[in-house]
Amino acid sequence: MQLIDGKQTAATIKAEIKAEVESIAARGGKRPHLAAILVGHDGGSETYVHNKVLACEACGFHSTLLRFESDITEQQLLVEVEKLNRDDSVDGFIVQLPLPKHISEQKVIEAIDYRKDVDGFHPINVGRMAIGLPCYISATPKGILELLRRYNIPTSGKKCVILGRSNIVGKPMAQLMMQKQYGDSTVTVCHSRSKTLKEECLQADIIIAAIGQPAFLKADMVKPGVVVIDVGTTRVPDATRKSGFRLCGDVDFENVAPLCSYITPVPGGVGPMTICMLMLNTLAAAKHLYY
Ligand code: GUN
Repeated sequence: MQLIDGKQTAATIKAEIKAEVESIAARGGKRPHLAAILVGHDGGSETYVHNKVLACEACGFHSTLLRFESDITEQQLLVEVEKLNRDDSVDGFIVQLPLPKHISEQKVIEAIDYRKDVDGFHPINVGRMAIGLPCYISATPKGILELLRRYNIPTSGKKCVILGRSNIVGKPMAQLMMQKQYGDSTVTVCHSRSKTLKEECLQADIIIAAIGQPAFLKADMVKPGVVVIDVGTTRVPDATRKSGFRLCGDVDFENVAPLCSYITPVPGGVGPMTICMLMLNTLAAAKHLYY
């Protein structure tokens, strides 16, 4: 069994990005500029956005954080999005989710110029991804593809089972794993209502677990030699930790890991890759790689 080290891989990729940015700057080029909109004071969102700003520094990017109180109206937020759309100094930007209940997330996402949508959430990017056109691919599925690629894990012709059908992970992951230019796999998507979930998993060469239930995937659901990618990040209360919680994956790691050829740990697997993929998308935006 080999552990897939997302933390180390992310550090390597950030160093590669930094080297490219310094070489662009040395030639008189502009550093990539990522802006982030944060609404309110949700603890998780504060941490994520803070880490995105730190990642920008590590990569040699400019970053701008725009903060608004949670009583900002939808209309006011749409005006802020439009300002960033028009700001030529900003290459790409994100609106951190979730947003307060009185604001339509979908409306805000669709207001973002798809050419600056480095989260890859705009329907134009989602649609282009689905038919294999150049576009921003959202961070979690992109990070998983990158881990599989960097660990030389064969995916072509393999049977890949995806647990979960969310817009952010399950659906895009299925699209990408089936496409010739990415996974080139035979893909099955299972979810909370699937009657044959265990049987499907037992046949899988690769399982990507993104179902959001701690320790859901058990040892009696996998075949020996399977590759397991754990996307779960449920916060479980833990009084022994300073934070008061620990992260729990969707895989019963202790019992499943001995059966695997490769497995990602939680934490330190998929998680560290996501912000790093946002940096790659921002670099692509600055280079006008897709649009
Ligand atoms: N909230 C949780 N994950 C994400 C993400 O990848 N992008 C944005 N904008 N918000 C999030």
